[in-house]
Amino acid sequence: MILPHANPDPASTVRLPETAVSLRGVTKAFGSGNLTVHALRGIDLDLAAGQLVMLVGPSGCGKTTLVSVISGVLDADAGQCKLFGVDWKSLSGEQKTARRAELVGFVFQSFNLLAPLSAWQNVAVPLIIRGMSQAQAKGPACDALAAVGLGDRTEARPSQLSGGMQQRVAIARALVGKPRLLVCDEPTAALDAKTGQTVMDLILAASKRVDDQGRGCCVIVVTHDNRIFHYADRIEEMEDGRFKEAPADFIIAEARHHT
Ligand SMILES: Nc1ncnc2c1ncn2[C@@H]1O[C@H](COP(=O)(O)OP(=O)(O)O)[C@@H](O)[C@H]1O
Ligand SMILES: [Mg+2]
Repeated sequence: MILPHANPDPASTVRLPETAVSLRGVTKAFGSGNLTVHALRGIDLDLAAGQLVMLVGPSGCGKTTLVSVISGVLDADAGQCKLFGVDWKSLSGEQKTARRAELVGFVFQSFNLLAPLSAWQNVAVPLIIRGMSQAQAKGPACDALAAVGLGDRTEARPSQLSGGMQQRVAIARALVGKPRLLVCDEPTAALDAKTGQTVMDLILAASKRVDDQGRGCCVIVVTHDNRIFHYADRIEEMEDGRFKEAPADFIIAEARHHT
């Protein structure tokens, strides 16, 4: 469903939004024999850069599996899964890791920060993976923290920060490398309503940003949280490994409630 208040890509008046994600007939199962779980049962999906798309649906319906396949963390069993025109199937393991580091930022429910490292050192990790030294990475890492309102907490350890602050560090880490796809899996599930709004404001801003070549970022937010549905440009509802034809009325009502 495309919501009526969806902000068009500012570049769309001069050119069509770029296709970020293109999936055709994607399936994924876990286990074997009687214990097989069909997590994805034939997914077709096209997502454009510059969009904030929400994936909603009950626990176990395949949301995390789907974003893992889109971002090349898991291999699909069958079907075509392209990210910016390249099918993950055509790449070696090493090439996939490199492409993920270059193109994808991740934000998780549980923040996943490294406890012994300071905030800026956590944010620097993706840059160091790409080959920068700590000294080279410190400046951009501190800038990314300042952009999420934590410019004065760069030396703090995760345990010295609130949950909301830790999630902002995680967002800075996800954005520091200027990803073209931002995947957020239940980013507000561990946060109170107000902190969740702050986090969603930052994620929304990331979806509206364009890089120096005029290219937008595709943002996928997996969520159960009806308090944040109204941030979406588009909502897709999953059930048992498939998309529903149209999202449930209550989801649409919640999404429109705040607009
Ligand atoms: N690594 C795994 N091994 C076995 N089963 C899994 C694995 N990951 C997910 N599943 C199963 O696949 C289904 C979809 O899971 P998941 O994508 O995590 O759903 P959601 O994120 O919507 O809660 C569930 O039945 C889950 O138990
Ligand atoms: Mg999940």
